[in-house]
Amino acid sequence: MSDALLTVDHLNVGFATKAGVVQAATDISFEIHPGEVLAVVGESGSGKSVTALALMRLHPGNTIVTGDVRFEGRDLLNMSDRDMRAIRGNDIAMIFQDPMTAMNPVFSVGDQIVETIRVHDSSVSKQDAWTKSVDLLKLVGVPEPKQRASQYPHEYSGGMRQRAMIAMAIANDPKLLIADEPTTALDVTVQAQVMEVLHEVQAETGSAMMLITHDLGLVAGSADRVQVMYASRLMETGTIDQIFYESRNPYTMALLDSIPDVDGLKHELHPIPGNPPSLLNPPSGCAFRPRCSFATDVCSTEVPSRVKVGDQHESRCARTDELQTSVGVSS
Ligand SMILES: Nc1ncnc2c1ncn2[C@@H]1O[C@H](COP(=O)(O)OP(=O)(O)O)[C@@H](O)[C@H]1O
Ligand SMILES: [Mg+2]
Repeated sequence: MSDALLTVDHLNVGFATKAGVVQAATDISFEIHPGEVLAVVGESGSGKSVTALALMRLHPGNTIVTGDVRFEGRDLLNMSDRDMRAIRGNDIAMIFQDPMTAMNPVFSVGDQIVETIRVHDSSVSKQDAWTKSVDLLKLVGVPEPKQRASQYPHEYSGGMRQRAMIAMAIANDPKLLIADEPTTALDVTVQAQVMEVLHEVQAETGSAMMLITHDLGLVAGSADRVQVMYASRLMETGTIDQIFYESRNPYTMALLDSIPDVDGLKHELHPIPGNPPSLLNPPSGCAFRPRCSFATDVCSTEVPSRVKVGDQHESRCARTDELQTSVGVSS
């Protein structure tokens, strides 16, 4: 579709290590449309962060990246460093799991937001940028934002720091927010509060969001579409309803079976047996095969291709045609 904000086409990311190439993202293609919330879900180590970092060109030096990434039609992988820096933190902003690593401990939170604003638009006065910082802290629910703006990151609690991180990310009205496990480091109650802030902010600013998380339960009420990632590949992509109620992929089904009480649907919890494979020497055929209760002979020889199973719905499984999910079908 031509109205996409971000188009990722056949993105591959590999790390050259002494032991060989770690293939961390394989044949990743997807789009994000303006104002849309796309969740990227999968167990730890499946390549979610690597994908996000590569498309922002924040990957380390030993990385081999191929494919095509377009933001509003502009070629992100081949533009100059200078052009890329102008997009980062401005049109595309990131929120990380641990704000302590993204914030500078020696500057006050307010000063850091001021800096974020002025680095992209030096015509804004320090005074105006400070006023805007306070407004932003207020918007994300930091109490007494005027006083809090003068405090340092270590004076904030984990939840408040994550709110400040969100304030910093939205300071330049990004068109796309990439939130990588934004609540993983927080306890459950605070997690819910920060998710709510993120959604209020997203609705208010109208920005699109790529929400990365290992927690499928977290995205039920918070995303328009979901893509499920396993061992460096996209396994299934669909709307929230397609993924939660009409999944056609054994890995998604296993993930759904391993989370508690989605949308009031109570069922016994079944953790997925085994562990994700090494991305250095992945198994032949489908990488999920060793853990999959639907696997047959063909799964050990052929990497399944993406099968379109409905409008906006795709699954990567040799048995997609036979699979009809029973999860969520109740009346
Ligand atoms: N700099 C690196 N060098 C080698 N391997 C890496 C590097 N960064 C990440 N990886 C590997 O890439 C895979 C995907 O990592 P990542 O994207 O961080 O997973 P997650 O889905 O948990 O975000 C993992 O197997 C990880 O070990
Ligand atoms: Mg990650």
